[in-house]
Amino acid sequence: MCGIVGYVGGQQAAPLLLEGLTRLEHRGYDSAGVAVLAASGIKVAKQAGRVRAIDLPKRFAGKVGIGHTRWATHGPANDVNAHPHRSADGKVAVVHNGIIDNAAALRAELSDLGIDLVSDTDTEVLAHLVALSEAASLEDKVRSALARIEGTYGVAVLHEDFPDRIVVARNGSPLIIGVGEKEMHVASDLAALVRYTTTVAHLEDGQLATVTAAGFTTSSTTDRTATRLANQITELDIDPATYDAGEHESFMYKEILEQPAAAERMLRGRLDERFGTAHLGGLDLDARESRGVKRVKILGCGSAYYVGQMGAALIEELARVPADAEAASEFRYRNPIIEPDTLYLAVSQSGETIDTLLAVQEIRRKGGRVVGLVNVVGSAIARECDGGIYLHAGPEVAVASTKALTNMFLGFALLALHLGRVRDLSVADGRRLIAGLQRLPAQLEEVLKQEDAIAEVAALLSEAESLFFIGRVRGFPVAREGAQKFKEISYRHAEAYPTSELKHGPLALISPEVPTVAIVPADELTDRNVAALHEIDARLGPLVVITHADVDLGEVRATRIDVPANEPELDPILLTIPLQLLAYHAALRLGHDIDKPRNLAKSVTVE
Ligand code: F6R
Repeated sequence: MCGIVGYVGGQQAAPLLLEGLTRLEHRGYDSAGVAVLAASGIKVAKQAGRVRAIDLPKRFAGKVGIGHTRWATHGPANDVNAHPHRSADGKVAVVHNGIIDNAAALRAELSDLGIDLVSDTDTEVLAHLVALSEAASLEDKVRSALARIEGTYGVAVLHEDFPDRIVVARNGSPLIIGVGEKEMHVASDLAALVRYTTTVAHLEDGQLATVTAAGFTTSSTTDRTATRLANQITELDIDPATYDAGEHESFMYKEILEQPAAAERMLRGRLDERFGTAHLGGLDLDARESRGVKRVKILGCGSAYYVGQMGAALIEELARVPADAEAASEFRYRNPIIEPDTLYLAVSQSGETIDTLLAVQEIRRKGGRVVGLVNVVGSAIARECDGGIYLHAGPEVAVASTKALTNMFLGFALLALHLGRVRDLSVADGRRLIAGLQRLPAQLEEVLKQEDAIAEVAALLSEAESLFFIGRVRGFPVAREGAQKFKEISYRHAEAYPTSELKHGPLALISPEVPTVAIVPADELTDRNVAALHEIDARLGPLVVITHADVDLGEVRATRIDVPANEPELDPILLTIPLQLLAYHAALRLGHDIDKPRNLAKSVTVE
């Protein structure tokens, strides 16, 4: 874990590999390395720290190579544990994402054979196993090594005796092959490929591919005779520039600003004003099936889980179908009951988050129906689901999710509209929601215009060691998402609480040193919310209130940030945007690396 690149073709591999690795930096990593097949054999350069710090030795020439950014799982981040790993005879080099569960047993076995394991990693065993295999072809050597492994992998292998190729294989960790002109690229993420080619093939779990300058062939990781050929070459409709931060100092900032346009893309062609409903082509549920849905269960991780809670509220309110959200990472460990008339929704920006993917597989294994709300087209979760709503947010590079989250919310709104209109939601109410959705992009823009004022508030908040984010009912998931954004990039302790629970515990912590960010929309709970603000104010807790212009905070001393009001059901997303800007400006002020927060990766593809 975490990023893989590979190249085979007519150019020098090392510069291309290093460039590819810098494109994966946003995913988070602690060490990096590259290997090339030189005339004299495999050469490796790797070290802890940034990609740009890799010191390539002289004579590092070779037109076939692999590279990796590592996020430590087995053993600390140091030069030796960085990938690529080599076999004892130096003939094999391997990079690997994922986790080998039986690494300890395999390490012991290899030691007994007299092999000196130089690193602490699980990956190193793969290099030795490939080298030890007596099979005639590299593909079979890799197959026999993988047969010994329990766990997950995306793996790329170089072998001195097979200098024209890279062999790659996938089980649970993404791998994409980029098809060029007499050259081929390999990467775990499109970001590393799109500069070179937009013709790509996603490797499936259980597939192995031989990649040479002339092209690639795929086969099975277990059965050498089962050739499932290049079934899936696709031409991406992606502007490589979307993977550049351009004039912006960070991807997160760029992606925050892109939200109005991304929201428009999400809604385009999906709103049916005449019948007050939504068209969701990929949903694959006819009216009768939609009516048959008795419950909705939303699964996602992190921010995708929090927006799932916003989505559950929308679906309950508009469709009057019981709905709830659960962390996918917990769901699949509790032997969940899968009901035939429950609609399961898997929510993921990357479409690769392992916990969400495994939850989807568990549901499908038990005969449940899963619809994906996914941003990355063709990703593992998108492919695994029965139907889907693509998010059309465009590539999201920053670790902290912003525009994908906004479009997830819109996806829930569209689905709620659809489920509502086949039930009791009236045409008039459907049209009311549609008009609200149509107003949203411009209102998102309006919130973004308040950036300077929000930045000033962020400066004050950045000084606090610890903060609360509070909200009720619709506002509570907004508070959770706000706390999440704040903590992940500012590294301040930010805790979300339902406002109603304050006096059941956390009020004890309120003091002039502990600010509270409160979500107070104009709705049926405004009075209750304002009463809670009085309690905080009375204890001299500094208050920032995200609210609507017509909310009267009375005597409460607070800094208010007013967002435009939409329909109450849609307000949560507008209340979320200032929280993104608060987190961003606090982190900026604290001098943090906004796009690469410490210890975090863009997509979590290992358990
Ligand atoms: C927070 C954040 C993470 C992701 C989570 C799920 O800003 O980005 O919490 O939301 O890791 O990722 P996806 O949506 O790719 O499944």
